[in-house]
Amino acid sequence: MVGDRVIALFRSEGQLFAMDGMCAHQGGPIAEGQLQHGCVTCPWHGWQYELATGIQTINRQPLQETFEVREIDGKIELFI
Ligand code: FES
Repeated sequence: MVGDRVIALFRSEGQLFAMDGMCAHQGGPIAEGQLQHGCVTCPWHGWQYELATGIQTINRQPLQETFEVREIDGKIELFI
């Protein structure tokens, strides 16, 4: 949680990514999704989003909000 928002934080191939933690489809827990090839798959119905852009891979629309994130000295900074 960041304030009143659920944020999903991922580390994929050594890089950090952050996006809205509630799936744009029906609010599924996107942080519990499977990571593969730079994408996350929602565990509820399988919608898949690019980690870097939030683009839904089937319709190519930016449905999932993403946030800038960085790590400095072991601390993660998120820009919402
Ligand atoms: S809630 Fe995520 S795919 Fe349906």
